[in-house]
Amino acid sequence: MPSNATALLHQGDDRQRHHGAISTPVYRASLFGFESYADFEVATANEIAAKTPVYTRVCNPTRQALEEKIALLEKTDRAIAFSSGMGAISAALLAFLQQGDHALFVSGCYGPTRQFADTLLSALGVEVEYYRAAESPALEKRLKPNTRLIYLESPGSLTFQIQDIRAVTQLAQTRNIITVIDNSWATSLYQQPITMGVDVVVHSATKYIAGHSDVVVGLLACNEDLYQRIKPIAALLGANLSPDDAWLVTRGLRTLPLRLAAQEAAALKIARWLQNRPEVRQALYPGLPDFPGYALAQKQMSGSSSLFAFKLAPSTPKARAAFVDSLRYFTIAVSWGGFESLILPIGNAFKDLPDTRAALGIDDDTFRICIGLEDVDDLIADLSQGLEKFQMENKSP
Ligand SMILES: Cc1ncc(COP(=O)(O)O)c(C=O)c1O
Repeated sequence: MPSNATALLHQGDDRQRHHGAISTPVYRASLFGFESYADFEVATANEIAAKTPVYTRVCNPTRQALEEKIALLEKTDRAIAFSSGMGAISAALLAFLQQGDHALFVSGCYGPTRQFADTLLSALGVEVEYYRAAESPALEKRLKPNTRLIYLESPGSLTFQIQDIRAVTQLAQTRNIITVIDNSWATSLYQQPITMGVDVVVHSATKYIAGHSDVVVGLLACNEDLYQRIKPIAALLGANLSPDDAWLVTRGLRTLPLRLAAQEAAALKIARWLQNRPEVRQALYPGLPDFPGYALAQKQMSGSSSLFAFKLAPSTPKARAAFVDSLRYFTIAVSWGGFESLILPIGNAFKDLPDTRAALGIDDDTFRICIGLEDVDDLIADLSQGLEKFQMENKSP
C-alpha cells in the first residue's frame, strides 16, 4: 500500500475521463446534457451515488476528484465537499437529529457549532447538552434513552483538549448513537477517526487542507450507508462547493504533507522556546510531552499541526496590546491553517459561560497562535522582541 502522501496525489484523477489532463479540469458548468432519454434516466438514477453529473449542486466532476482524495485519506468510502465547514457540520447534524432527540456536544466545540446547536437544533425540538472533554472516557452517565448523537472536536481549537475517541465510540456503538467529529486541527493526514469507530468526520478545510487562506470550504467523510442518508440532505441544503473552489482545494491538498511537516516542526520548536521564556506561564500544544492530553494524543494522532495556545504572565491590557501590536510576522486574525503565521487574543472566549471557560483553562492572558511557513528563526526573533516589549510595559506603573 502506498503512503497517504503518495496516494492522495493520484486518487480521483480520472485521466481517461478528462482527456489525459494531469490536473482535473474545472468543470465550470451548472448543468450537464444528455444524448438520449435512456442516458438521462440512467444519469438521474445515479446522481446521488455521485457517478454521473446532472446538476452541479448535486454532482460535479471537479468536486468528485477532491471528494475521492478525502475519502481515501479518511480511510472510508465517501466524502462530500461543502462551501464551508459550517455547511458540512450543519448537514451532518440535520441528517441525524429530529424533534425529541437528545444530542451531546463537547463544551469547547467551535463557537458557531455551539450556536447552531443552541439556536437551530433547539428550535427544531432537539435537546442539546454539553459535556466537558475530560468526561469523554466515561460519558455513560450523560446518556439518555433518546440520545441520538455525540459530537466531538479533538483536539479542540482554543486550548486543544483531547477527547478519548475510542471510549466515546465504543459506548456509542452499544447504544446505536451516531458520532460526529470535527477533525480540522489534525487534518485527514494526522488523524483518521473512522478507524477509531467514529461515524462521520467533518472539517473546516478552509484551514490546513486548502492551506492558502484563499478559500472557505468544508468536507465530510463517512461510509456508504451513512453517505446515502447525508448526501440527499446536503443536496437540499445547497451548501455545495463550487468547481473553482474544489480545484483550489485539490491544488492545496497536494502539498498538505509537506506543509504540515514543516509547520509541525516549527510549532514544536516555538512551543518549547515559549515554555522557557520567563514571560510565559504555559504553552498548550498537543505535541509537547507535558501537554495534559499528550499520551492520548499520541494514541490517536500520528502528528500535530501548528495551532496552539500560550498564557502570558498575569498582565495588564496595555502590556498585552504592546506584545501583539509589536509583532511583525504574526497577523492578528481569526482562522488558521494557511501559509502565514497568526495571533489571536482569546482571553474573551466564553466570558458568558464561566464554567466552560474554566474547563478550557482560558484566562485574560491567553493567546492562540498559528505557525505558518515563514523561517522559524525569524518567527522566534519576532516573538522575542514582542515579549520584551510586553515585559517592559507590564512592569511600568
Ligand atoms: C474547529 C473549527 N471547526 C469548524 C469551523 C467552521 O469552518 P468554516 O469557517 O469553514 O465554515 C471552524 C472555523 O474557524 C473551526 O475553527
